[in-house]
Amino acid sequence: MRRKIVAGNWKMNLTRSEAKKLFEEVANLKSDLSCDVYQFVPSLFIADLLDAHLSSPVIGAQNAHPKSNGAFTGEISMHQLKDMGVKAILIGHSERRHFFGETNEFLKEKVDAAISEGLTLFFCCGESLEQRENGNHEQVVISQLKASLFHLPEKDFTNVVIAYEPVWAIGTGKTASSGQANEMHSAIRSAVAGNYSIEVAEKTSILYGGSCKPSNAKELFSKEHIDGGLIGGASLKAEEFEGIINAWK
Ligand code: PGA
Repeated sequence: MRRKIVAGNWKMNLTRSEAKKLFEEVANLKSDLSCDVYQFVPSLFIADLLDAHLSSPVIGAQNAHPKSNGAFTGEISMHQLKDMGVKAILIGHSERRHFFGETNEFLKEKVDAAISEGLTLFFCCGESLEQRENGNHEQVVISQLKASLFHLPEKDFTNVVIAYEPVWAIGTGKTASSGQANEMHSAIRSAVAGNYSIEVAEKTSILYGGSCKPSNAKELFSKEHIDGGLIGGASLKAEEFEGIINAWK
């Protein structure tokens, strides 16, 4: 059985009091959760949110530097996050790739750092609209995985969750159809099987991200290879996020 996961990515949103309120509201849903819930929060709020000492939602960071310490002004390391009590990290989000120029090589370093700190890493991959229209989408996504993730030894892959997020669907209101998403997830799972084994592939959770909301989550999650969602906009309102969690029921 693969883990079912719904993860929120708050991005650069919310004030301190709004963050605490949203986190508490989501934590209060936990009595009848049918999946694992993560919240990728701005690092600024991590200490406050960890103070609540809740086992769910699991707190993750949206970004961190791979070096454990040193002269990297303005950065936060995975080592520091781990020391705070953070359990998970997002790596390879398209906003980091595109707005901050993060390369496959740099993402590979981040993957290695996350594994050495014992963090669960959510590795994001996805194609642009142009790449999809050219019919290169599968090739693009598989090459992202090969370049930054597939060097890991099999034993470390238990700490990996893959998130497929077509760039053209992120924050645009355009969702990939459940068929398009499932087709890509199936290609990703086959690539994991080819690089590792069928057993590893069967255990790897692959999430869909990109304008996922309560109205489309059930249809997306009903597909064989879709094991949950990475949710941006709809994670900022507890009731919408709850609607997506409930899509697993
Ligand atoms: P969205 O973002 O749900 O707002 O499209 C998803 C993401 O970027 O993780």
